[in-house]
Amino acid sequence: MVGLAEPDDAAVWRLSEDKAIVVTTDFFTPVVDTPYEYGAIAAANSLSDVYAMGGQPFLALNIAALPDNLPNEISSEILRGGAEKARHAGVVIAGGHTVKDKEPKYGLVVIGFVDPRKMISKSGLRVGDALVLTKPLGGGVTTTALKQEKSTERHIQEAIQWMSRLNKKAGQLATEFDLRGGTDITGFGLLGHGMEMADASGVMLSFKNSTLPMLSGAHSYANRGIFPGGAFDNKDHYGGKVRFDEGISEPDQMLLFDPQTSGGLLLGVPQAGLNSLIKRADEINQPVWVIGEVRAGKGIEVRS
Ligand code: CO
Ligand code: CO
Repeated sequence: MVGLAEPDDAAVWRLSEDKAIVVTTDFFTPVVDTPYEYGAIAAANSLSDVYAMGGQPFLALNIAALPDNLPNEISSEILRGGAEKARHAGVVIAGGHTVKDKEPKYGLVVIGFVDPRKMISKSGLRVGDALVLTKPLGGGVTTTALKQEKSTERHIQEAIQWMSRLNKKAGQLATEFDLRGGTDITGFGLLGHGMEMADASGVMLSFKNSTLPMLSGAHSYANRGIFPGGAFDNKDHYGGKVRFDEGISEPDQMLLFDPQTSGGLLLGVPQAGLNSLIKRADEINQPVWVIGEVRAGKGIEVRS
């Protein structure tokens, strides 16, 4: 049902009328200094693509590349972080494979199931939908500040909490409200993944800058020019089709290209169900922000 042809979050193969298998993998180098949290974030990120398709993950395999001289305590902490996060998600890690490499890399292969009639995809947005985001942005600038030793401990802890948070409840909301358009915000940032959705759905995304949730340190790091290289790549690649209102500063524009690790879901919510979705989100302890709407047209506009 979903494969190499279209950019989506996972591969989907129909098994029967009401069951399809969802398969995805992701792994990356450390984004934080603490091995347990790194493992947890990598696992939450890998699981996220199944939630982004409206599916439920159930089985996973570790993929790890670890330096020869890495102390055992560290590698086992990375794997423990991943395993506990997976258990939290109700997912069994049933095996995996490790190779030697100079720089650590870790992530999961994840298998899940989705009801094909309820699948969420990047092409499912409709004109009039509200755009709802389930985690704040600014993870890229915050972890870059950590690498450059310019971060504060409080900002790092806040980023770790969000990055290691599962998108399970956000996915649950999407399924309960029968949503069809959604993705998770990762390496291409809000505007990159938003553009994929605009293109795939044949619509325009209209974001309201003042409503975008940001991690506490994001603006100060952005104002000091602390961006990861990926933010500039994203701007080069997607910037041409984004129209910014005058008055949105250069750093504020760049923040929307900031690559996220284990970011939230971006969901299209039909206006009729928006208020009850917000109420339900509150009941299940899932933060949500309404950040714009889907309009007729192409590309993305960012209003101040
Ligand atoms: Co994804
Ligand atoms: Co992915």
